[in-house]
Amino acid sequence: MSGTLRVGVLASGTGTNLQAILDRVHGRGGVEVVAVGSDQPSAQALERAALAGVETAVFPREEHADRAERDLAVARWLQGRGVELVVLAGYMQLLAPAFLSRFAGQVINVHPALLPAFPGIRAIEQALDYGVKVFGVTVHFVDEGVDSGAIILQRALDLPEATEAEAVRSALRPVEHDLLCEAVRLIARDAVRIDPANPRRVLIAS
Ligand code: GRF
Repeated sequence: MSGTLRVGVLASGTGTNLQAILDRVHGRGGVEVVAVGSDQPSAQALERAALAGVETAVFPREEHADRAERDLAVARWLQGRGVELVVLAGYMQLLAPAFLSRFAGQVINVHPALLPAFPGIRAIEQALDYGVKVFGVTVHFVDEGVDSGAIILQRALDLPEATEAEAVRSALRPVEHDLLCEAVRLIARDAVRIDPANPRRVLIAS
């Protein structure tokens, strides 16, 4: 990739991961966040984007015929802004194949577990119910499955005494912010490749 990487972020909630990207990556190192979209009109992420002067849009499911149509509208909006990388930062929707085919290999997600353990919603609660002592964060490419795309970055966190989901969430949040920002930086400097010998494996150039 040459020049500036134009990034679009999709978020459904509070948007602390979006804020980390805006604070640490946006406008430096060849990264520009140019669009923030949400399925939720009340998402705090939209306010954060607006404060940073980034264009926003809302795509509520009920305003479109079905999920595929909604996702197509999101894809067209992002493509209209020249987005080259889509970051899911707490976006609580699966993306339709029609979206993913338009952004093949260009969508990443942050997940609060060490995938492939505990995909899907309530990942931290799943891990606590299982009784794990090591938690963690994964940043991965998005495919048509649930948190099943190739893994870009992972980091573990020892929390052997953890019993409360909120405490684990708080402990993982800074790790999420670090890893997601790092993944965007790496992609911006074209340091992320799929291993030709194993498409599940992501190679990171040093
Ligand atoms: C994060 O825990 C992320 O891993 C999950 O959704 C949460 C979003 O948090 N996918 P925030 O909205 O970025 O604060």
